[in-house]
Order: sequence, then C-alpha cells, then structure tokens
Amino acid sequence: MSTVDPRATDAYRNDRAHVFHSWSAQALLDPLVITGGEGAWIWDESGNRYLDFSSQLMNTNIGHQHPKLVAAIKEQADTLCTIAPFHANPARSEAARLIADLAPGDLDMVFFTNGGAEANENAVRMARLHTGRQKVLATYRSYHGATAGSISLTGDPRRWPSEPAVPGAVHFWGPYPYRSAFGSTTEADETERALRHLADTIMVEGPSTIAAIILEPVVGTNGILVPPPGYLAGVRELCDNYGILLIADEVMAGFGRCGEWFSIDHWDVVPDLICFAKGVNSGYVPLGGVIISRRVADTFAERPYPGGLTYSGHPLACASAVASINIFKEEGLVERSRTMGDDVLGPRLREIGERHPAVGDVRGLGMFWAIELVRNRETREQLVPFNASGPAAAPVADVVAACKKQGLLVFAHFNRVHIVPPLVTSEADLLAGLAIVDDALSLADAHTT
Ligand SMILES: Cc1ncc(COP(=O)(O)O)c(C=O)c1O
Repeated sequence: MSTVDPRATDAYRNDRAHVFHSWSAQALLDPLVITGGEGAWIWDESGNRYLDFSSQLMNTNIGHQHPKLVAAIKEQADTLCTIAPFHANPARSEAARLIADLAPGDLDMVFFTNGGAEANENAVRMARLHTGRQKVLATYRSYHGATAGSISLTGDPRRWPSEPAVPGAVHFWGPYPYRSAFGSTTEADETERALRHLADTIMVEGPSTIAAIILEPVVGTNGILVPPPGYLAGVRELCDNYGILLIADEVMAGFGRCGEWFSIDHWDVVPDLICFAKGVNSGYVPLGGVIISRRVADTFAERPYPGGLTYSGHPLACASAVASINIFKEEGLVERSRTMGDDVLGPRLREIGERHPAVGDVRGLGMFWAIELVRNRETREQLVPFNASGPAAAPVADVVAACKKQGLLVFAHFNRVHIVPPLVTSEADLLAGLAIVDDALSLADAHTT
C-alpha cells in the first residue's frame, strides 16, 4: 500500500483543476480521493479506511463492489453495452418485470430514467396528462431532485436559487411530530391536523386544478420524518375524493432502506406512481424510474407518451438492477434492514440519545435514522439554525469532523446527524460506528444550555 499524500496525486490535482462539483463553492473543496471500497467500507490510496454510515448519498444499499453485481455488469458489457430505448432487450424486460413485481397494488409498468430527478419529472408529466390538470402539491420538508421541475417541487432551501421556479408547484406542511407546524403534542393530533391542513390547501388551491400530491413517504434528507399512523392513508383518501394522483418519491427511502421494499408498504397505502433510483442498484450504474399504475399507463395505450431519454432502460443499468434485486432476495436484505433497525440501530441510538443533553430526538426505521440536535431539550431550540452554513453550522459540522477523524463518515443536514449505513453492514461495524458517534456527540453537548 502506498503512503503517498492523496493531495499530491494526479487524481486530486485534476479534480481541483477541472471537476466542477455539485452544490459546492468550488474553491473551498478538499475532497477525499477514494480509490476502493468493499461492503460498508471505502479507502484512499494510502490505505486510510472509512466506515460509511451515509451509504455515499444514501444509495449504496448493498455496499460497495458486491461480486455478483460486478459480475452481472461485466457479463452484460460482454453481451451488449447499449441499445436504443425503442428496442426490447432482455436485461430491461427482466428489470421491469422484477420491479413491477415488487410494487404494491396495480403498479406494473416501469419507465426507466437515469436517476431520481428525472423520475419525478416524468411522474409529474404523466399525472398532468392523465388528469388534464396542472398543479402539484409537495411538502416544504422535501427534496425531489435538481432538474427544473424537480427543484420546483423541492421544499427545502435548495429550491431558492432556482426561483422563480417552474409554475404549478404548491407547498404544504407535512407531519413532523417532534417539531409540529400545527402545535400538536401527540401523534394522533399531528395526523389529524396535518390532514386538515392538507384538505384546506386543496380547497383553496382548487381540487380541479391539482394533478398530483408528491411526497416522500418517509422524508429523507429533510429529517428522516416517519409519518404518524393514519397520515398516508388520509392523504390517499383525500386524493381519491378529488381525483388527484398520489406520487410516492421512494428514491431514498425505497429498496429496503426502511425495512420494506418501498417505505410506503409500512402503511399498506398504494400510490398511483412510485419514483425510484439510488437503492435499486446501489448506484453501480446510474438508474431510476417510475412504476406506473395500470390506470395511468392506459392513458398512453393509444396516445403517445410525450417523454423519453436516450438511455431509458440502459442495458448495463438494467442488468445491474436485476442482479441487485436478486441479491436483496438471496441475502434477505430487506428483512435484515428491518431487524437491524429494530434490534440494533434503534435501541442503541436511543440509549446514546438519553446520555447526551444535545440529543432532542432519535427517530427512524430500518437502516434510516436521524439524531436531531438541540441546544435545550425543553425549548427544543435547534443546535444550529434552519439552513445554517459556515460558522453558524459549526456545532454540527464539528460532530461530523470528529467522526471522520475516527474513520466514520456520517451525513448531516441542518441540526441533524443521519445514520444511514449500507444494509449489509455487519453488526460489529454498526456497533463500532455508533460508539464513534457517541463520543463525537460530546462536542454537541458543550453547546447546550
Ligand atoms: C427523495 C429524493 N428524490 C429525488 C432525488 C433526486 O435523485 P437524483 O439525485 O438521482 O436525481 C433524491 C436525491 O437525493 C431524493 O433523496
């Protein structure tokens, strides 16, 4: 193993000179140069290893370099690397069959995209054409992607620089029991009040103008918000009352992340369209898509669907999805996610939370958890303000940096640290990583009052 300084490598120099990175002030970046990975671990050229509790961007659900997934991509590469979307192809057909099979209710056709944002764009296009209506309701605490339409649906501040946004997106408040927008103190109240707020929003926007409601059944980046019992069923009912389609954005929460194939399965609610990406093939090759109900698909039985992508159903991506879904089944990864959440992550995180005054709330399910940090448990004042950056964000950034120093990568958003490991992470690694988080949280405690 070389001990070369990663910053002295061509990879680092050329990155800094020529790679324009997502969401970043380019001159302020100092990326790790990652050259390898296996399972839940990644490493640089000098052999510095990191346990990845963020699954990269919450997408490497089966971990890095799964031999069967790598083999499937190689095999498809030897057979046929690419083919236009208007031909049929065995890898694409099988991926669509397997994905449709996993989906609830009458969702049984798949439109493939290259990622999550494009999936949401196309789901919204389908909903508009199916209903003949224009508006789409989305929650404030949401992220739906960075293309023009998807960033307009996004509720979080990443939308602000893209405004004025594409017309037709209307935002509303979803449930968030710990920090209720409605002043609720119980989950039952939160469900009732959030549904009343949504019903009021529909009323004043005009039900006959609304094509769809899009939501992350378990909100991801904006808080790992698990909906209180009855909420999603209530949204479904409102949609049915007014002929509005329900779009489940399962890009982050789907494919086992929450201990079910799709997070919405926890509540037995059937949406009209499901958007997926990320965990479908752990990002080994870019892939996303929309799973479409028969009723919506039939709208385009005789009438052409006005949307497409050169790489829709790319064979390498589809072959990797087929292999990935088979790996999930063979290794019981959906069940493993549920068990690790119930037996290891949940109990251990709650225990850690009790010990640290800076921990206001611990929540999640499966292998999808958030630690919400506060200055004061009574007032629930956030450890850092909404959308904090620079020095204002330091109290959380310091926790992340302390974890990284100990070889653990965690994702943080606003006043939360998210724990989202690959579903294959061993129990020993989960416990070792949580011990590092436990230590690092002492830095947050120092800011409490
Ligand atoms: C819920 C959700 N929807 C959509 C997206 C966008 O996906 P992509 O980055 O693949 O376009 C993301 C990405 O984080 C997401 O979390």
